[in-house]
Amino acid sequence: MSETGDIQATASETTTAEALSRPLTIGVEAYISEEYARAERDRLWSKVWQQVGRVEEIPEVGDFLTYEILDDSFIVVRTTPDTVQAYYNVCSHRGRRLVDTPPGARDARGRGRQFVCGFHGWSYNLDGQCTRVPEREDWQDRLTDEKIRLGAVKTDTWGGWIWINMDPDCEPLLDYLGPAATLLEPFQLERFRYRWRRWLVFDCNWKVALEAFNETYHVPYTHPEFIPFGAFLGWSRVQGRHSNIGYDAPKGQEGNQGKLRISDSGDARVSTAVMQNFIWENANTNTTETLVEVANRLVAELPEGTPPTEVARYWLETARREDAERGVVWPTIDPQTVAESGTAWQIFPNFQIGQGQNNMLCYSARPHGYDPGKCVFEVAVYQLFPAGEEPETEWLHTPPDDPDWRTVLPQDFSNMAAVQQGMKARGFTGAKPNPYRERAIANLHHNLAKYMGTGAPRDLD
Ligand code: FES
Ligand SMILES: [Fe+2]
Repeated sequence: MSETGDIQATASETTTAEALSRPLTIGVEAYISEEYARAERDRLWSKVWQQVGRVEEIPEVGDFLTYEILDDSFIVVRTTPDTVQAYYNVCSHRGRRLVDTPPGARDARGRGRQFVCGFHGWSYNLDGQCTRVPEREDWQDRLTDEKIRLGAVKTDTWGGWIWINMDPDCEPLLDYLGPAATLLEPFQLERFRYRWRRWLVFDCNWKVALEAFNETYHVPYTHPEFIPFGAFLGWSRVQGRHSNIGYDAPKGQEGNQGKLRISDSGDARVSTAVMQNFIWENANTNTTETLVEVANRLVAELPEGTPPTEVARYWLETARREDAERGVVWPTIDPQTVAESGTAWQIFPNFQIGQGQNNMLCYSARPHGYDPGKCVFEVAVYQLFPAGEEPETEWLHTPPDDPDWRTVLPQDFSNMAAVQQGMKARGFTGAKPNPYRERAIANLHHNLAKYMGTGAPRDLD
């Protein structure tokens, strides 16, 4: 179904990108309609590739984790040293969920060679075959192996993540990821490991939660503490069904479009150290101990008056060398790729990868039941560690007011429920994303509309 006035879904990629650069407006249906939230189950979630965990979380054959989205639950298990497979987490006998999620936990984890249903003891091996049916002869040979095996879904890996797709006819993961896979390849994301990971349920739609992080337009107003550190504003580009965002390079620092920024005002040695310590303390994202330590020595190691570009070069080269000396080898990425890849990718529909050369910050959001005003939100910080020194982490349930979120992320959180509430107001006429800085929002809804048949952005006339 197409709506009059929407962006032509059939237009070429360039035309689509241009169309999405115009001033557009997005209706509230995708955020607040219960009917829309229900329709997402069959029209969207059953058709897209979803990131469900990291490869290193299930290192041994038989290791498994579960992933839940709305009514569907999956067992994601390592079936051989090189293969990971996801199955619907449901017993083929009378439909009992095979693996239970412990109360209050994000998912279930374990290791085994058999999944045994707690109801009547039907058992399944790692290949999904039903290996035991008590009193099977009562079915008089009608229970064929095919009828009672676990349902498998498409499973693949990329970037160190495990991805699943419920659509048996879906396109291959690499084709789906398209330019995201190409531009992120040099970052070697599969080498990164969790530093910490937290999850919670927000009182907002999953799109509201993601859209709090997929643009830089909010930075000076939601995070005023960053203003003294320079301009954190940036662009947003259409990359097929995905988008990416990046910083506009400060004047005179055109080569510095990467994520690791130095301040563009004052003594760059001092401001870089102040900024790094602020981020480390108050966000615990987007930097590492090495970067903070080297930043803290800039005043001692560089003469007064060192130009900002030289401060940046020295800081990053020193951190890279000192990390290499302890076995943490940053990928070497040409500046052109760093610039083009920006600071974060919005992988359609619900995963954001904030890549960096030695650390990254990722967000994902998905519905929490069919209430359009609730979502499960996950934040994970990753970095490169010396082999064998990766920290043990798990998903920590962390409510929005928990001090462990520190101070920066709660500033973002504070907008979410308020946006969800505001969108329901009769007086609100639809979102009007900034055509340059918030294009990822328009692109998300442009692509959502292709699946949902409604909700495409319209020209802001
Ligand atoms: S429902 Fe699983 S064995 Fe009966
Ligand atoms: Fe923010």
